[in-house]
Amino acid sequence: MADRMNPHWVLARMPPEGWPVDADFAWREAPAPSPGPGQMLTRTIYLSLDPYQWGRRRRGVEAPGEVCHGRTVSQVVESRLQGFVPGDFLFNTNGWQTYGLTGEGISTFGYMFPRKLDPSLAPISSAVGVMGMLGLTAYAGLYVQCAPRAGETVVISAASGGVGQVAGQLAKLRGCRVVGIAGRAEKCAYVKEALGFDECVSHLDPGFADRLRTACPEGVDVYFENVGGRVFETVLGLFNSGARITLCGLASQYGAMGEDIVQSWKAAGDKTFSERNMKVYPLFVGDYVASHQDQFLAEMAGWLQDGRIRYREDIHEGLETAPRAFQSMLSGGTFGKTLVQVSPDPTRQA
Ligand SMILES: NC(=O)c1ccc[n+]([C@@H]2O[C@H](COP(=O)([O-])OP(=O)(O)OC[C@H]3O[C@@H](n4cnc5c(N)ncnc54)[C@H](OP(=O)(O)O)[C@@H]3O)[C@@H](O)[C@H]2O)c1
Repeated sequence: MADRMNPHWVLARMPPEGWPVDADFAWREAPAPSPGPGQMLTRTIYLSLDPYQWGRRRRGVEAPGEVCHGRTVSQVVESRLQGFVPGDFLFNTNGWQTYGLTGEGISTFGYMFPRKLDPSLAPISSAVGVMGMLGLTAYAGLYVQCAPRAGETVVISAASGGVGQVAGQLAKLRGCRVVGIAGRAEKCAYVKEALGFDECVSHLDPGFADRLRTACPEGVDVYFENVGGRVFETVLGLFNSGARITLCGLASQYGAMGEDIVQSWKAAGDKTFSERNMKVYPLFVGDYVASHQDQFLAEMAGWLQDGRIRYREDIHEGLETAPRAFQSMLSGGTFGKTLVQVSPDPTRQA
């Protein structure tokens, strides 16, 4: 059989200070690898684009010339791993490439892989979104860490994004007043009208601080932090005594890695945190996979099926679009959970 070609993106250079540009990525083609004992070859269907990928590249975790890292939804093509057969759908980490190996000797990047997917539970694309890592991130941060009570005010930044849209709806399920913060007007409208948040305020609005204060007349009890920077500084003045924060991410700061962005964030908040007797919970979703993933997936499947949780995906067609879609996602250009469709999804074919 002729070689199966494997188009992919590699990191072209050590990224300089700032945000990604086209020159940070290089397109390559090579024959697809063959699975060894205990491994399988899988075809990438969906590639997840996530803000943390840029932080990782900026910190040098990924070296120039390496395939860009990324979580994926894939289908098994050849298997030498017991329990997996061609045609199975998986959540795995193929990265920014068309084919990848999964199994023995292949890094799982701290997760329990491979996870087989059941297309009858939810669309397979959601395994890198609401029915996967991002949903679990929202669940762990909101329910396990902050445990909001009915009637409390919960503020969610990057509210229309992959994590934010789930976190806000989970807070609504607990009977909270939920206020989102997002960019463009269409994102704010979606958050309020389609997702059912009580309010959504645009951080692009010149009157942002006043509008946020008006949207939180009884102050803020829980804050789900996704972006940091000016948004965080604005929320800071509104915290009630005993408020809790999930420090999930600082997406506005990932281009400026010269400083310790978490330390800077803490320094900006420290005085308020101690004066108002607050709790800050740093979040790493990998810490909750073993303890909470099964329960989370069972609950989320039910919420999706009965329509209590909704979600939006922004799917870009073709692996060649990955660098541009990634740049757009980091600067608020995409809308919803950002994905690249790398190859056809057999579960969506008529
Ligand atoms: N702790 C964990 O284990 C874990 C796991 C997964 C994700 N995360 C974090 O969760 C956060 C959300 O991730 P996601 O995948 O759901 O990304 P996302 O929200 O889909 O995309 C990032 C969004 O951040 C917003 N943003 C960017 N620059 C901003 C700025 N200067 N001011 C205000 N908002 C800005 C933009 O939305 P707007 O257009 O609305 O401004 C952008 O679309 C990220 O910080 C990520 O690193 C953490």
